[in-house]
Amino acid sequence: MQYPDWIWHNGTIKPWADATTHVMAHALHYGSSVFEGIRCYDTADGPAIFRLTDHNRRLYQSAKIHEIDIPYTLDEINAACREVIAANGSTTDYLRPVAFRGLGGFGLSAETPVDVAVATWKMGKYLGDEALENGIDACVSSWQRFAPNTIPAGAKAGGNYLSGTLVAREARRLGFREGIALASTGLLSEGAGENLFLVFDGALHTTPVSAALLNGITRNSIITLAREAGLTVVERDLPREYLYLCDELFMCGTAAEITPIRSVDGRQVGAGKAGPVTRRIQALFFGLFDGSTADTHGWLERV
Ligand SMILES: Cc1ncc(COP(=O)(O)O)c(C=O)c1O
Repeated sequence: MQYPDWIWHNGTIKPWADATTHVMAHALHYGSSVFEGIRCYDTADGPAIFRLTDHNRRLYQSAKIHEIDIPYTLDEINAACREVIAANGSTTDYLRPVAFRGLGGFGLSAETPVDVAVATWKMGKYLGDEALENGIDACVSSWQRFAPNTIPAGAKAGGNYLSGTLVAREARRLGFREGIALASTGLLSEGAGENLFLVFDGALHTTPVSAALLNGITRNSIITLAREAGLTVVERDLPREYLYLCDELFMCGTAAEITPIRSVDGRQVGAGKAGPVTRRIQALFFGLFDGSTADTHGWLERV
């Protein structure tokens, strides 16, 4: 893997190779980190970071849930994101702020220093170059998401991703591109690292935050853009079989962007390719970056 030259680490920009931590850091043993994933897009007016402030606000919300005291302000983390993008230039399209409990105690409740880094790299198309166009084949995972009041799904915390890793690796092992998890209720939750939208009769249906999912910023952007375009959007509990019965299905997230799903568990979804509503949502979303969708919410934050 090709790494970028520069990374922001505990307050300074330094060479990538110098951003190291101790093997006894708390987070390495207990998953005690919180992080974000943010995309930077090229636009006619130069690079723009999509909803930078909203992502970093969620970083602080995740930290609040886990009582991780980030020793920088939101403005400082926003500035670090801009700095690291500027330092690495065009070798980047994805940002990864992370705050974690470092070295300073071995107990679960140890009050360790909190280390913070902002990395960036070139992610490209997370689910493959063809995925946005042709759709992917997905499966329902044998692994469920966390039960309520166990691990908080609303925090984007390192430890949560052992769940996503099980779901994603199982799917790949079985020959699928991505896995979809059920909540402990048996109702639909989300993809390994993406939220879900189902289309019935032209209306969008998405699973609610009570279904053990991360309240995605892409999900929120889609809900906003779709409603503004006059589409109906419903947040509701959905049983598994509606994955097979819906007219269209797509996953969304910073990494996956808006990826159509053409089959689930070997059953074709709708016409087996991106349908008209999915295409419309893709056009509205990607239109933010080529200027065909007006950025009325100030979501494009300049480097
Ligand atoms: C588990 C999970 N769900 C959903 C999402 C989508 O969230 P967002 O659109 O904010 O990237 C992500 C990605 O961050 C995720 O990891």
